[in-house]
Amino acid sequence: MPAYDDLIRRWKEAAILSSCGSVLGWDERTYMPRNGSAHRAEQMALIAKMCHQMTTDPKVGQLLAQAEKAKPDEMQAANLREIRRSYDRAVKLPSDLVEEIARVTTQAQQVWTDARANSDFAKFRPWLEKIVALKRREAEAVGFKKHPYDALLDEFEPGATTEEIRSLFADLAKDLTPLVAAILSSGKKPNREILHREFPVPSQEFFGRMAADKIGFDFQAGRLDVTTHPFCSGIGPGDCRITTRYNPKHFNESFFGVLHESGHAIYEQNLPAEHFGTPLGTAASLGIHESQSRLWENQVGRSRPFWEHFFPLAANTFPQTLAGVSLDDFMFAINDVQASFIRVEADEATYNLHIILRFEMEQALLTGDLKVADVPAVWNERFGKLFGITPPNDAQGCLQDIHWSFGGLGYFPTYTLGNLYAAQFMEQARKDLSGSQLDADFRAGKFERLKKWLNEKIHHLGQHYRAKVLCERITGKTLSHRPFVEYLKAKFGPLFGIPA
Ligand code: CO
Repeated sequence: MPAYDDLIRRWKEAAILSSCGSVLGWDERTYMPRNGSAHRAEQMALIAKMCHQMTTDPKVGQLLAQAEKAKPDEMQAANLREIRRSYDRAVKLPSDLVEEIARVTTQAQQVWTDARANSDFAKFRPWLEKIVALKRREAEAVGFKKHPYDALLDEFEPGATTEEIRSLFADLAKDLTPLVAAILSSGKKPNREILHREFPVPSQEFFGRMAADKIGFDFQAGRLDVTTHPFCSGIGPGDCRITTRYNPKHFNESFFGVLHESGHAIYEQNLPAEHFGTPLGTAASLGIHESQSRLWENQVGRSRPFWEHFFPLAANTFPQTLAGVSLDDFMFAINDVQASFIRVEADEATYNLHIILRFEMEQALLTGDLKVADVPAVWNERFGKLFGITPPNDAQGCLQDIHWSFGGLGYFPTYTLGNLYAAQFMEQARKDLSGSQLDADFRAGKFERLKKWLNEKIHHLGQHYRAKVLCERITGKTLSHRPFVEYLKAKFGPLFGIPA
């Protein structure tokens, strides 16, 4: 298939160029000197422009149409399906709109940083108004069947619809709200102070690296560096880089962050290298990506068998800090549940309520049912209903997240999808690999069988299947809130003394 081969060659070339931008982006956030930022922005903008030209070239459209007609096999068809989706989306967006979004969101991020620091929503408001208007234009240009939000969602979670996520999240909220209420009114609290003692940074680094290595992060094909905002960047085959930040007075920040980013990285490191630069060598969706990070961070990393192995090692690594602390105390402390204002600090039980709030507000912003000016009031009111507490200011309320300032409307739901996929995948892994044997593996510090299962079922497939189909193939069922809620009940019920 000459058309197909030529198309793939062009698509891969654009991906190689784009990955040069990823190296620059990683460097910008880790080691670049401060004064390099203006020149770096020019380098990145040029690369982005060249990639856009390469992937929206009319020749690409011709080759794509020819390849689609030429009886592709199943693998080729998967590549063509996703190249078609990206190509159509890119060519439907007028270049003046793309430039305007890039310009406005670059400035808006600066404004948002100041607005959040001073808890000054009025300053950010005109920028958010511009962004909402631009995202509405984007949705109109891309097109949608039912809800303009569908068009934005599709960029992060190909094929997902607002309607199905709405019904999934409604089911989740119905079970989650009483569970969280029961936990918060249980009167039981762990000793949180354990995790806020002195944890020397070099020891944290040693311990985090050891855990990342044991769960399967390949340090020959990756790096771990320090940044203020942790991330994972898959640069290409053999090179996936993660970052963390160390707080000498809080154990969780770096340790669970490293497990989280390692989960993302294990996905990237196990994508099929021969398909790099094509959909078959790319992660299925952001929701599936997040499922891998949450699976290692929470399903595995906050489980008792995991700590039966790691707690004695932690006690050796932090001998003074953890002197006299029992495994039970530690387990309860790392599985604490609290109503809190900040999404990124939220526990497993309350986290998704933060997402549901944002998902509801984004839809209303996009349809115009919610005016930007009313965002703080509506946020606080809804937050009060969900959590029983009201943010003291907008910095701890509607200004806390960076997403709206970079135009990432439609992104938030992927976090909760990740939690739900993680629970459903883990439930299946425990069936396929025997749950009690998996627990025995973890107790012995062995994670290879689980990792291999994830490699085969998810990582090696790239975008062969859309997220929804992938989930059905692995678990025999469509995505449901049930495995996640059952997982929460099984874990938090005994800790907080809640009857099943
Ligand atoms: Co993540």
